[in-house]
Amino acid sequence: ITAVDVIRTKRDGGELSTAQIDWIIDAYTKGAVADEQMSALAMAIFLNGAKPREIADWTAAMIHSGITLNLAGVGKPCVDKHSTGGVGDKITLPLAPLVAVFDVAVPQLSGRGLGHTGGTLDKLESIPGFKVDLTEDEVIEQLKEIGAVICAATGDLAPADKKLYALRDITSTVESIPLIASSIMCKKIAEGADAIVLDVKVGSGAFMKDFAQARELAETMVRLGRDHDVDTRALLTDMSIPLGRTAGNALEVRESVEVLAGGGPEDVVELTVELAKEMLAAAGRMDVDPAAALKDGRAMDAWRKMVAAQGGDVDATLPVAQEFEEIKAETGGYISEMDAYAVGVAAWRLGAGRERQGQPVQAGAGIEILKTVGEQVQAGEAVFRLHTDTPARFPAAMETLAGQWKVGAEPAKRGPIILDRIV
Ligand code: URA
Repeated sequence: ITAVDVIRTKRDGGELSTAQIDWIIDAYTKGAVADEQMSALAMAIFLNGAKPREIADWTAAMIHSGITLNLAGVGKPCVDKHSTGGVGDKITLPLAPLVAVFDVAVPQLSGRGLGHTGGTLDKLESIPGFKVDLTEDEVIEQLKEIGAVICAATGDLAPADKKLYALRDITSTVESIPLIASSIMCKKIAEGADAIVLDVKVGSGAFMKDFAQARELAETMVRLGRDHDVDTRALLTDMSIPLGRTAGNALEVRESVEVLAGGGPEDVVELTVELAKEMLAAAGRMDVDPAAALKDGRAMDAWRKMVAAQGGDVDATLPVAQEFEEIKAETGGYISEMDAYAVGVAAWRLGAGRERQGQPVQAGAGIEILKTVGEQVQAGEAVFRLHTDTPARFPAAMETLAGQWKVGAEPAKRGPIILDRIV
């Protein structure tokens, strides 16, 4: 087998054999296949797709490129959640401690943001002292003691995906169902959880812009999980409008803490509770009420324990950006549209995200949405508050948002958050 043969097969619309897939993933992980060759193959897959068998083989080969965690020592059901990525998606922060309240372990191995979608680790690192690099023993210990861990995946977990994802990001080959499904599921399966709940985003702020594609992605991932004996289910959720009222690292932590304190935006609360119900059902806990645990402080207690266990100062003031600017409505009426992608890109341009892997992000940068879809606004009233430490970034962010939100004369209604459920 040679890389050129494998690329040619896929370029010409053929089907890759199991042996070809095993060989190329292994050789790429070891550095024997060059980035140029893997880029060409990723583009061929992007353009020509892959059969379910090829996706299954590709996922298995990526799992085997590294170690798999053994969570048997945790002694309780381990359930993990994964979102395909969105704008203002801070759900993991309140969700992991909320589920842990019910004696279900949540090993949440998370990533950093790249492009316009934020990363959970970047958000948590805005808490002074918070440590995201834990050893396998520390993860297991914390799952036993507290039940919730949100940390970085170790470099040994699915290393093929780490290399390939970085390559896809710079070769415009991210938005491919076979590549996304295998990338997400190889990491989640290698993590060793008993069950996985997927939050598959649909809309302008998501990788999948339309419903049919998102559904296909969700079904592909659910099948991959079940093939590996992991109870996998998915919710399809709306990402045409940003989730909640903040996009940006510390801003999103603040909003998550509001949710844990029993308040916070309705859409964030609803999605947190619905995902918690799915996770608890997968762990056999249909008898409990996660909404109540947000209201009565139990989820907040679990959050405080988790943050403290990972070295974070729970009572510290979160970082605030040095400068802010507001964008105001010119006419009064009702907010009828707000494009999630534009808000994500604007927050990223303010410094909440990075352009290259390894760059630092600004903890305080981002956007507060003061008025969202369906809400009334007066002429001259602020709709967005933009935050950054580098005011030179304001014009680009403002330009990004221009024309991407609308005020109408008629009261507008926001559509549902949960669009479908695949079990
Ligand atoms: N998240 C991942 O981990 N991989 C993808 O390909 C897309 C989103």
